Amino acid sequence: MKYIKLLELIKPLKPLSANPKRQTPNNMDWYKIAESKEELFGAGVDMVEVNVDDKTILVVRVADGMYACASKCPHAGARMKEGYVDVQGNLVCPLHKYRFDVKTGRNVSGEGYFLKRYMVMQKEDGIYIKWQG
Ligand code: FES
Repeated sequence: MKYIKLLELIKPLKPLSANPKRQTPNNMDWYKIAESKEELFGAGVDMVEVNVDDKTILVVRVADGMYACASKCPHAGARMKEGYVDVQGNLVCPLHKYRFDVKTGRNVSGEGYFLKRYMVMQKEDGIYIKWQG
């Protein structure tokens, strides 16, 4: 009797998405964006925009790694890809020059904004962004 009640509590697994890019071995929330860094960035490029479920995400390459964040500035919506990365590794907005730490999203120039970040990971078979959908 107790055994049957336990079985009733077990929820069925969610089906895998029909989108092949979402079918990752460990977690369906990891979305494949490229096969490699070379494919993603190309020569001399440190910022690229990628589309994940109709959302544009900016992927930034800095000296110690690769980070993903919102493509629009939280202040007034400027396109962050048109900014630049300063010598400290901060992403600088092209419009009003607010600076954001690409590792944390913190607004290091002190205006009190926060740049949304996404987890990005390089695996053997490609580069993935964690996506909540
Ligand atoms: S729009 Fe980016 S700092 Fe104002």
